[in-house]
Amino acid sequence: MAAPDTRFFRLYQTFGVRYGLDMKKTRLAFIGAGNMARSLIGGLVADGWDPACISVSDPEPEQLTAISSLFGTARADNNTAAVENSEIVVLAVKPQVIREVARELTTVVQARRPLVISIAAGIRASDLQRWLGGDCALVRCMPNTPALVQSGATAMFANRAVNDDQKALAENILRAVGLALWVDNEAQMDAVTALSGSGPAYFFLVIEALQEAAQALGLDDKTARLLALQTAFGAAKMALESRDDAATLRQRVTSPGGTTEKALSVLEEGGLRSLFNDALKAACDRSRELAEQFGAE
Ligand SMILES: NC(=O)c1ccc[n+]([C@@H]2O[C@H](COP(=O)([O-])OP(=O)(O)OC[C@H]3O[C@@H](n4cnc5c(N)ncnc54)[C@H](OP(=O)(O)O)[C@@H]3O)[C@@H](O)[C@H]2O)c1
Repeated sequence: MAAPDTRFFRLYQTFGVRYGLDMKKTRLAFIGAGNMARSLIGGLVADGWDPACISVSDPEPEQLTAISSLFGTARADNNTAAVENSEIVVLAVKPQVIREVARELTTVVQARRPLVISIAAGIRASDLQRWLGGDCALVRCMPNTPALVQSGATAMFANRAVNDDQKALAENILRAVGLALWVDNEAQMDAVTALSGSGPAYFFLVIEALQEAAQALGLDDKTARLLALQTAFGAAKMALESRDDAATLRQRVTSPGGTTEKALSVLEEGGLRSLFNDALKAACDRSRELAEQFGAE
């Protein structure tokens, strides 16, 4: 694949993105062709991005074949080759290997200066920037597992080198798999990890507990499962579509003297709020510890 004309791309970035022209032909490289890459690429292609402009690299040829036959993406011979042809690089590898991958890309990243987007959980922008050889435009993202079904919640942090047009591009890429929003301060990523990063598991636990409690009251497992799941989905959909906050919605469905009021009083008296407070604090502290551990060297 021929390298794109960088002067043209800069003009395109300045005028094309800003004035709403087609950004869906921007050349993207995905390093790592695993679950998240597949999900992001699937979302981008469904959203009209040109798969021929997406190069993917991965040490496993079968992963590449699977992804290119599914979406029509280009196969890169190796990570450096993928970056050489791209204006945006998405690092979609596990946190355990990202340091090695970044160090391997230092020369090409410093020469080409693409926007680098990392989706690796717990890897700080400052560490990644150091591994990539210093100055570079970097967006660190924290997506969550429902991104695999295009219903993710992603928080993004941009370092100072990222300009507004690059932010718009990053936002468009992450929106392919759900909600994407910015945080101003990277330290907030630990709270994000505690809330939306680990959050799907909290809801799975609540669904599991509701299901077991309903079975104890006599429902069969299939009925209990489907009613618990649809209730969780319906409550989240209603809250997302409403202008009212969760507390107002809760009060509206809690009639004095009714069944909901009885159940909620058991949950409140049992300390549900303080339990969630402690749980998120523990997750946030662990996120900080892991970032220290991954960022060493
Ligand atoms: N999955 C989620 O729900 C989720 C949620 C939030 C954040 N994330 C983040 O997203 C990132 C990717 O997660 P994932 O679930 O997609 O992992 P994954 O399925 O394991 O995908 C990672 C891919 O990277 C490949 N890889 C390994 N070493 C490489 C190298 N040196 N160069 C290029 N590719 C390499 C792996 O190949 P091999 O299999 O051959 O090693 C694998 O295909 C992680 O950093 C994770 O923290 C994931």
